[in-house]
Amino acid sequence: MLLQSVETGVVGAPMAGGPTTPELVAAVGEAGGLGILAGGYLSAPQLAAAIADVWDASSRPFGVNLFVPAQANAYAVGPGELDGTERAQAVAAYRDLLADDARSLGAEPGEPRPGDDDDWERKLDLVVRERVPLVSFTFGLPSTAVIGELRRAGIETVATVTDVEEARAALDAGVDALCVQGAEAGGHRGTLDPLKQPCDLDLVDLVVAVRAETQAPVVAAGGIATHERAAEVRAAGANAVQVGTALLLTPEAGTGLAYRRALTDPAHQRTAVTRAYSGRLARGLETDFVRRHDGHAPAAYPEVHHVTVPLRRASAAADRSDLLALWAGTGWRAARAVPAATVVAEFAG
Ligand SMILES: Cc1cc2nc3c(=O)[nH]c(=O)nc-3n(C[C@H](O)[C@H](O)[C@H](O)COP(=O)(O)O)c2cc1C
Repeated sequence: MLLQSVETGVVGAPMAGGPTTPELVAAVGEAGGLGILAGGYLSAPQLAAAIADVWDASSRPFGVNLFVPAQANAYAVGPGELDGTERAQAVAAYRDLLADDARSLGAEPGEPRPGDDDDWERKLDLVVRERVPLVSFTFGLPSTAVIGELRRAGIETVATVTDVEEARAALDAGVDALCVQGAEAGGHRGTLDPLKQPCDLDLVDLVVAVRAETQAPVVAAGGIATHERAAEVRAAGANAVQVGTALLLTPEAGTGLAYRRALTDPAHQRTAVTRAYSGRLARGLETDFVRRHDGHAPAAYPEVHHVTVPLRRASAAADRSDLLALWAGTGWRAARAVPAATVVAEFAG
């Protein structure tokens, strides 16, 4: 299995929205790790171009990560807190609330696009056609039929899970391996049900609990910022570690300038988990925007994501970090501006 044959036991996390570039995926692969392209938010043609760029830059195997949209989520999601009309009203109210923030940057909040499926079907066709070696999923579980189709194409499948019950559901659905994501992780929590309160176990305890259930390969992710922490997570039963935040300052990453500056700015004191940017829980540096809006954002993904996109784009274009989503894990202070190969070597098993 590919995941178990990665020499260093290091996986470069897929980081949608810019940080994961084809160069980063290729550099992680060349250094003996496994790079994963972030397919989320891209159209199928954009993802096709990124896949071609990785093939051009490196002959090492790599993966592609896809967001499972609500329409395709085979996980038994609990009843929503809001019905369709209430949900739309809550999103509209949040959109109004953000109008002043948007105008301060000469922008308008975006339209919610409630049915957006992130080009799911076309991206699935693409990864099968391209015979991408590995596909990982987050935000939901694909159906057994989809997982079977990928297997027949020779593609290894990995489901992101955040607790033991999700791990069982993913294995029942037939995935080859698990990406066990702990509460310390930067970016979105990959909970299979967007409304549930995510598990807050320490990553080591979570890996031990999942390992007690299965012998399937486990990649552990979340707050891994030192070689020692990676070793602890491996000793708990992980076959590999997946690092995201540790790669954000590497020259191969596409992290924007304002984001890079914020990551090294001592004014940022802590990370916070918030729905303020996307409607889904995600961890990032606590900003004034998070403090002001965290309590108002409805649990409505992808609508809230689309509402805030123009604010974040305008903030990046103005080289201002105040309205950016500064995704970062709890270990962000250890991130360094060194080549990706140095990061892979640091976390190698
Ligand atoms: C900027 C950023 C973007 C992310 N985007 C994705 C994504 O597109 N898909 C995904 O499965 N995980 C995503 N994640 C989560 C990572 O896969 C991983 O769980 C996390 O980075 C691990 O924690 P760490 O950042 O503390 O290393 C993202 C994380 C960050 C920091």
